[in-house]
Amino acid sequence: MTITDKSQFTGKIKRVIITEEEICTAVKRAGEMLSREYEDKPLLLVSILKGAFIFLSDLTKEISIPCEVGFMAAKSYFADTASSGSVTITYDLAQDISNYHVVIVEDIIDTGRTLSEVVKMLESRGPLSLKVMTLLDKPDRRVVDFKADWSLFTIPDYFVIGYGLDFGEYYRNLPYIAEYDSQTDR
Ligand code: IMP
Ligand code: MG
Repeated sequence: MTITDKSQFTGKIKRVIITEEEICTAVKRAGEMLSREYEDKPLLLVSILKGAFIFLSDLTKEISIPCEVGFMAAKSYFADTASSGSVTITYDLAQDISNYHVVIVEDIIDTGRTLSEVVKMLESRGPLSLKVMTLLDKPDRRVVDFKADWSLFTIPDYFVIGYGLDFGEYYRNLPYIAEYDSQTDR
């Protein structure tokens, strides 16, 4: 898919489901909560690329205690709105996590496959503690039993775009979360 004109891009935005202001308020609150929870503890925020890059960036600005960031990339979705069902780690953390309290910062939990695999992998490396914060949660779509420690928004079974989330690599730059209009694809 290559978007050549702007109407092809904007025509797919069905409706905004979470506004920029609503995201901002929730992210601010989440950052304040983490600052209290991890005060005086070595904190490492681990972001799963690419979807969580904007969330991580905004979240870190709301954290008032010392913290580090690390990145991993896991792939389980391609240019499709259905999960491929397999998870591969394509980029791994550089840090030894055994001296950190780790918080995984994720964009969305859908089937739960990605995070359950990533959590298993990171647990085996012996962090001081390991928790998961997700911006969005789609509990209706779960195929493996997985629950985040903190979830900022729970949404119905919509395919969403924006604020880091993509469809075929586009739409990550939208400042809000919108429902993707797949009707016009057929
Ligand atoms: P999982 O199904 O919980 O393993 O989710 C895997 C990944 O799929 C998420 O981290 C997202 O990057 C992507 N994903 C799931 N649902 C959506 C969506 O509605 N829009 C965009 N990406 C999604
Ligand atoms: Mg993701």
